[in-house]
Amino acid sequence: MKISTIIDEIEKRVAVTPETVKKYISLGLEVELPQNVGSMAGFFDDEYAAAGAKITETAFVEDADFYVCVKPSFLGAPKIPDDLKFKSGSHLVGILSPLLHERSLKKLSEMEVNCYALELVPRITRAQSMDVLSSQSSIAGYRAVLEALSLYRRVVPLMMTAAGTVRPAKILVLGAGVAGLQAIATAKRLGAVVYAFDVRSVAKEQVESLGATFISVEAKDSGETADGYAKEMDDDYKKRQAEKLAEVIAKMDVIITTAQIPGKPAPLLITEEMIKSIKSGSVILDMATESGGNCALSQKNEVVLVNGVSIIGYADLAASVAFDASQLFARNAFNFVALMIKNGNIDTSDEIVQAALLKNLSGE
Ligand code: NAI
Repeated sequence: MKISTIIDEIEKRVAVTPETVKKYISLGLEVELPQNVGSMAGFFDDEYAAAGAKITETAFVEDADFYVCVKPSFLGAPKIPDDLKFKSGSHLVGILSPLLHERSLKKLSEMEVNCYALELVPRITRAQSMDVLSSQSSIAGYRAVLEALSLYRRVVPLMMTAAGTVRPAKILVLGAGVAGLQAIATAKRLGAVVYAFDVRSVAKEQVESLGATFISVEAKDSGETADGYAKEMDDDYKKRQAEKLAEVIAKMDVIITTAQIPGKPAPLLITEEMIKSIKSGSVILDMATESGGNCALSQKNEVVLVNGVSIIGYADLAASVAFDASQLFARNAFNFVALMIKNGNIDTSDEIVQAALLKNLSGE
């Protein structure tokens, strides 16, 4: 059995690293990779070869049984590129965004390629080591703070010098899930005074354990569904939340927004009206632009300047830290593929594999 990955001109991360090459080999797989496949992430052919991979000059390995990819950008093309000649019965694993890429995925299904969307792996304990959303969100939450500060023209920590004292920056994080908690921790390490808000009341303890101040909005319940996700709050709560945020936001220097409710468009937390109240020179980084945005004026992958406030909408923050994001992704992907190899054969019966397998794609 052979595993490979696909060269991607847009995605900087790579789904196979020299570390996971060794792991695949120990599972009994051959690894064959196109030349320079990991160079944008900082992994080079000699390292792959030293780990036991075969490096090929062709851009696509045609006889592989498995292709593991991060976010294969060819799925967004009008048609599957002719040079991607997948073997019938092969398996494609990655962040496949089935709602966005329905047409390409149907085509792959007609070509008898089995497609597994890693973002559909259930968030159960046994699947934690395969949770690409969490591993990439952690990296992205960290990077979000650095990106926001790159446009902030002041220092972050309190500085007391002979020439005077510089006050610390106030950073607000909206949404204290995986990305939010990492953003809070990063902002704290840099010396900011950090505030955070989340609809789930259990987030208060986590926020405070990182040394940040939790902004509370009175609520009738915990803000959580039975499986621990945020739920849509009623209009009365939303009104009180907006009033509280309007008051707090005006005092902030940097705001990172990470709020999401699974399966729904991102909640709008920062309105145009609120942006007008923010001090010139402040920075907002909206992490949720891919799902509609938490901030009214953010644009996906753009920086917009409104009344002196920079609003950043980068949607590829994890890819900006491509080396470490790839290391984590590659381990997640390996753990997933390992579930499919039983006694040297491919076995897709595991419930985690079945949850990620895209079914009913063909036939239209
Ligand atoms: P998560 O589900 O772990 O966290 C989201 C948090 O938002 C939860 O704690 C939830 O309670 C909270 N929330 C929901 N509604 C809220 C509201 N109205 N007000 C305040 N908080 C609210 O999600 P994760 O993994 O942290 O991702 C966060 C966002 O960042 C997602 O939109 C995700 O797609 C995006 N993301 C963006 C990246 C980028 O490069 N821009 C990279 C990775 C993730």
